[in-house]
Amino acid sequence: MRLIRFYRTAIGKKIVVAVTGVVLFAFLILHMFGNLKVFFGPTALDQYALHLRTIGEGIFGWGGVLWITRGVLIVSVLAHIITVILLVIQNRRARPVKYRKHRTQAATIAARLMEASGLLILVFVVLHILQFTTGDIQPAPVLFSEQDGHMMADVYRNLYAAFSIWWVAWLYIFAMACICVHLYHGGWSFLQTLGFDNQDRNFGARIWAWCLSVGLFIGFSSVPLGFWTGYLPAPEGTPSLTADAQSTDTSETTHGKSH
Ligand code: HEM
Repeated sequence: MRLIRFYRTAIGKKIVVAVTGVVLFAFLILHMFGNLKVFFGPTALDQYALHLRTIGEGIFGWGGVLWITRGVLIVSVLAHIITVILLVIQNRRARPVKYRKHRTQAATIAARLMEASGLLILVFVVLHILQFTTGDIQPAPVLFSEQDGHMMADVYRNLYAAFSIWWVAWLYIFAMACICVHLYHGGWSFLQTLGFDNQDRNFGARIWAWCLSVGLFIGFSSVPLGFWTGYLPAPEGTPSLTADAQSTDTSETTHGKSH
């Protein structure tokens, strides 16, 4: 089959990496803008989280569109990672004798940073979902309540509780820096795959990749930073973050799982 033959070529794989990278990048942009609703207050953020579950409810049911999006993301992440690994193997086979002189130079350092930052992002995403989506990891109590007859996370309250802990806030900011490094090189490689790699355009391409990665870093990091510095206020009914206050302030909430 043509598609499989094309996928076997190096350029075929580079295109799969680029396309899946764009899908994941689009998710990051949407997620970042969604998170920024935190600056409009608890109701705006929690309503947005509810909206994500009720879009297209008439056709796909409650949370249906969210599950379709999750499916697309999982396929994209798997295709991205598997194809990168296959590409590395293919390149090594094509060039069994290593470069002697240039191995430690910029291109190799960037590639190594891509592998390390990619791995860190993967670990981050798994821990992040276990923390805020399923509530299995709770450095601070993760609360869920019933909305529309379904259990879902109290997003603002959970973010407030988590990012009031200094090391959680800073761990997130560190993870965002890794994502920034990955996106910078990824954005640059994407343009090379599209054939933008020439002296006249290189400067513009680097500026583009820089703006994109730094923009995402600032947008994402502003949330943990906003809570950690106290700029973002405690949600109503959360007088303090002592263990007692957390455990008595759950009249309508539970530690159950969301859908
Ligand atoms: C400081 C930065 C971030 C914050 C504050 C944040 C916050 C959140 C919250 C609160 C949720 C749960 C939303 C809900 O239940 O409606 C969530 C889900 C998620 N986040 Fe993030 N996020 C951040 C960065 C990221 C990054 C960088 C990635 C990817 C690399 C990411 C990937 C995800 C994924 C995959 C989900 C699960 C979506 C789902 O299946 O429901 N997040 N995030």
